[in-house]
Amino acid sequence: MTDLSTAPANAALARVPRHVAIVMDGNGRYARRRHLPRVFGHKAGVDTMVRVVRAAAERGIEFLTVFAFSSENWKRPDEEVAGLMNLVLFTVQNHLADLQREGVRVRVVGDRSNVSDKVCEAIDRAEAQTAHNRRITLTVAFNYGGRWDVVQACRRIAAAGIDPAHIDEATIARHMALSHAPDPDLFIRTGGEMRLSNFLLWQAAYAELYFSERLWPEFDADELDAALREYARRERRFGMVQPEPSELVANA
Ligand code: IPE
Ligand code: IPE
Ligand code: MG
Repeated sequence: MTDLSTAPANAALARVPRHVAIVMDGNGRYARRRHLPRVFGHKAGVDTMVRVVRAAAERGIEFLTVFAFSSENWKRPDEEVAGLMNLVLFTVQNHLADLQREGVRVRVVGDRSNVSDKVCEAIDRAEAQTAHNRRITLTVAFNYGGRWDVVQACRRIAAAGIDPAHIDEATIARHMALSHAPDPDLFIRTGGEMRLSNFLLWQAAYAELYFSERLWPEFDADELDAALREYARRERRFGMVQPEPSELVANA
């Protein structure tokens, strides 16, 4: 006989999203509340990111994509931008070995054209050293914007000389920065704002949205589980009609 007390937990486990995307927002407010410079919040945010990748892998999530620096974040004070660039070097130096040991494949997507050679080299090293890992793929969107992504895809399609009559959604998807991953199933934003801020505009077409009040440095495995439970309760329809309640029971 089925033990009904465990049914919701099992149902939730059965519906683990393959791909979770996160807008890691709230680092600045976290620092300000402690009367510390904003970069302190970004540093705390890196620690959270490493913990969340671990938790995501333990839960069977195959792809985690995080927004670390947007195309628009160059508009911030020079000191903060420089701090964020240095943080890439710090993260590769201090966390890459652990990520590597835990089977994390690291990919970094975004516009490299304004990024220094030193930062690009650190990114290349992180990707090369973890390229064979298969447990989870962590994609870091760095100097990324959804609109930039569409533009770079169009440019590469044009450069490849593809006949316009042969361009379809699959062609575009293949040229987008996240062509190595399925579309995100669950899109989380921390920090209480309810907007996309130019993240994954193409890929998130049918993602379930989850907004957390937690500031990113305060996000943890429990809050990830809350988002996963909410995801498991959602009914994804992809444009189809809502099934009758009787059909839902029959298919359970
Ligand atoms: C998100 O945190 C990280 C980056 C944009 C780099 P913020 O720095 O935007 O934090 P808030 O929104 O100001 O609190
Ligand atoms: C989005 O956060 C970018 C990242 C988390 C990297 P922002 O803090 O830059 O977004 P807005 O300005 O509040 O829309
Ligand atoms: Mg913000």
